[in-house]
Amino acid sequence: MKHIPVLLNSVMKALGSLHGKKVVDATFGAGGYSRAFLDAGATVVAFDRDPNVIADAEKLKEKFKERFKFMPFPFSHISELSDEYDAIVFDLGISSMQIDIPERGFSFRGDGPLDMRMSGTGGSAADLIAESSVEELARILKEYGDIKKSMLLARVIKNALPKTTHELKKLIRNPKDIAPVFQALRIAVNDEMGELTKALNAVPEKLKIGGKCVCVTFHSVEDRIVKSIFREWTSPVGDPRMPVLEEARFSLIRVAVPSEEEIANNSRARSAHMRGVIKSY
Ligand SMILES: C[S@@+](CC[C@H](N)C(=O)[O-])C[C@H]1O[C@@H](n2cnc3c(N)ncnc32)[C@H](O)[C@@H]1O
Repeated sequence: MKHIPVLLNSVMKALGSLHGKKVVDATFGAGGYSRAFLDAGATVVAFDRDPNVIADAEKLKEKFKERFKFMPFPFSHISELSDEYDAIVFDLGISSMQIDIPERGFSFRGDGPLDMRMSGTGGSAADLIAESSVEELARILKEYGDIKKSMLLARVIKNALPKTTHELKKLIRNPKDIAPVFQALRIAVNDEMGELTKALNAVPEKLKIGGKCVCVTFHSVEDRIVKSIFREWTSPVGDPRMPVLEEARFSLIRVAVPSEEEIANNSRARSAHMRGVIKSY
């Protein structure tokens, strides 16, 4: 299934007029956001570490020529951009195309190799299980999947060393834990939290004054990181014991969740949250 962009209207509202503006789309996916930014008159630099999206990126390049540039890299490479931008936008997680192909190993629905690599490089989920200690695996399940009996499940998984998505699924006794276990392994395989932290830390220096950063998150682990980094940026600067603190560098512009109607049309939107901030100096 083609990916349906989530919370795109809220993102566009948060960004305001984009005519002549320079925007970074950190997560190209199927290009739904990039296309909307380009249609609104922006110049777009788009990142995605999944080589399978290149064909869609080439189509946009053909149409929008020098107004569109695709960067086939992890979005932590934002730190290497030499310009300053009017907006940097993150639509986190995985796309419908990634979930729908069983061979990529992201989904417990179809059977496939236990892969889960967005970029197709580095260690797979099966490698991660084979190479982690029981304690490390339990930490991943607890921290990224909120699995209660994480030590017990980690031991079961380590003993069985599953190689396919269905082999892993069969080891999970509580059906409610299946989606969170898959999510936890995916986050670890792709170092999603390390990538997000590195990229967000690079954002303040890459935004113009008046520039905006907007993030759409899909689970509490990534939402917590965005919330805590945005809180830091929107807090007054300096020693809280001193009488005069410097004004915060950013202020909050918008928080949004999908409408009932969007969720009815696109179940992927269910857990989405959008947060945006604007750089004041
Ligand atoms: C939810 S989809 C984005 C969908 C897109 N906004 C659209 O409208 O089609 C997330 C995309 O971000 C990519 N991605 C996730 N983490 C990434 C990272 N650290 N660096 C680069 N791309 C990443 C994934 O490969 C996926 O294609």
